[in-house]
Amino acid sequence: MSEELRLGLAGLGTVGASLVRLIERHGNDLAVRCGRPISISGVAARDRGKDRGFDVSGLKWFDDPVALARDPGNDVFVELMGGGNGVALESVKAALSSGKHVVTANKALLAEHGLSLARQAEEAGVSLNFEAAAAGGIPIIKTLREALAGNTIGRIYGILNGTSNYILTKMEQEGLSFADCLAEAQRLGYAEADPTFDIEGYDAAHKLALLTAIAFGTAVDAKSIYVEGISSITSADIQAADDLGYRIKLLGVASRTESGIEQRVHPTMVPKTSAIARIDGVTNAVAVEADFVGQLVLSGPGAGGDATASSVMSDIADIARGDRVGTFGRPVSSLEPYRQAEIRRHEGGYYIRLSVYDRPGAFAAIAKRMADHNISLESIVQRRREGRDTESGVPVPVILITYETTEVAIREALEGIMADGHIADAPQMIRIEQLD
Ligand code: NAP
Ligand code: HSE
Repeated sequence: MSEELRLGLAGLGTVGASLVRLIERHGNDLAVRCGRPISISGVAARDRGKDRGFDVSGLKWFDDPVALARDPGNDVFVELMGGGNGVALESVKAALSSGKHVVTANKALLAEHGLSLARQAEEAGVSLNFEAAAAGGIPIIKTLREALAGNTIGRIYGILNGTSNYILTKMEQEGLSFADCLAEAQRLGYAEADPTFDIEGYDAAHKLALLTAIAFGTAVDAKSIYVEGISSITSADIQAADDLGYRIKLLGVASRTESGIEQRVHPTMVPKTSAIARIDGVTNAVAVEADFVGQLVLSGPGAGGDATASSVMSDIADIARGDRVGTFGRPVSSLEPYRQAEIRRHEGGYYIRLSVYDRPGAFAAIAKRMADHNISLESIVQRRREGRDTESGVPVPVILITYETTEVAIREALEGIMADGHIADAPQMIRIEQLD
C-alpha cells in the first residue's frame, strides 16, 4: 500500500463533522479502494472548545485556516467553511500556491473565483475538486465532467437547492408557514449560514453557473444569471397551482439557444405529472439532455451533512488514486467566453395572480392589455369574495394562465395593467414549464 494521504480539514460544522465520521466509519475500506490510507492530519475551525460529537484533541488544531492550508503536514486542503471571499478564498489560494490539492463544497467561492482558482490549480499541476458544491450528494459534477464527456449537452435543469424545495414541499403538504419551514431547514443543517442565499435563489444560481461551465464549456458567469427566489411565493400561489394541476418548484435552467446560453433560476410551475414535480423535501434532481445519451435524470439528497460528505469523499478518493481531471473538465484556456441569452426572449406559459378591485371595467381592462400584447389566455379564475369583503371595489384574487407567449410581452402587459389602476398590489408572475 502506498503512502497515506493526509488531509487538512478547515471547517468542522455540518459537513466537516460528517466527513470526520465518514472517515472514522469507512477508513479501512477507503484505504483498500484507493490503495492508500486517508487520514486527517490537521483541522481548523473558529471555536476549539465546541462540542462536535467527536474528539479533536488528537488532531493538530489551527486557529488560522490559512496556516493549515500552508502546513507541510497535509497533502490535501479540504475547505468546508463557506463564504465566497475572506478566509475561504485566502486559504484555498494558499493551499494551491503550496502545491496542494484542494477539495471544497463551496459553490459561492467557485461561482465567484472558480476560473482564477482553476487556472492556479492547473499551473500547480494539482486538483481543485468540487463535487459537493452542486446538488449535495448527487454526483452531477463527475457525471457531466467525466461520464458525459462524449456528448454535446443541449439543456440542463433541475432543483438545485434543498432548502427551498424543503420549504415549498412543507408549505404545500403540511400547510406550514414559510418562516417555520425555513427554521426547520436551518435546524436540519440544510440552509446556508446566510439563508437569503437559499430562499432568494443565489445558491441555486451559483450551482447552475458551475454546471453550465462544465456542460457547455463556457466561462463561469454567475452574475449574468437571471435570478428570482421563493420568498414571494404565498400559500395562495401554492393552493392555486394545486387546483390547476401544477406544483411550484425553484428550478435552475441552462440551455443553448440561438442567441446564446440561457441561464435562469426562478420559481416555476411544473405539471403535477412531471418527474420534477414529484421531487420532494430536501431532495434535488438534475436532468441533462445530451445528444448521444439522450435524457438522464439524477436525484438524491441535495443538502445535509452526511450526503454532502459523501460527495466530498468522492473527490478525496480521486486524489488518493491519482485521478486528475481539469476543474471544469477541460483546460481553463479552452473555456469559451459566456454569451448570455436574454431572459426577455424566454418563451413559455405564465401564471399571473392579481389582486383586482372588484368593479365594473376591471376585467375588460386586464383582458385588453393581454390582447394588446397578443397574449392568449388559457384560463381566468376569480376567487370568491368572502365575509365582509362582499362590497364592490374590494380587491379579490384573480388568477390567469396564459398560453405560450414571450417574457417581454408578459412584462409589458403587466406594466400596463399596473398603470390602469385596477389592481391593489404588484402582480405575482410565475413561469410555467411543460416538463415530462
Ligand atoms: P457550517 O455548519 O456553518 O460550518 C462551517 C464551519 O466552518 C464551522 O466549523 C466553523 O467553525 C468554520 N468556520 C467558519 N468561519 C471560519 C473561520 N473564519 N475560521 C475558521 N473556521 C471557520 O457550514 P456547513 O453547512 O458545514 O457548510 C460548509 C460548506 O459546505 C459551505 O461552503 C456550504 O455552502 C457547503 N455545503 C453545505 C451543505 C449543507 O447541506 N450544509 C451542502 C453542500 C455544500 P465553528 O464550528 O467553530 O463555528
Ligand atoms: N443550502 C444548500 C441547499 C446546501 O439547501 O441546497 C447544499 O448546497
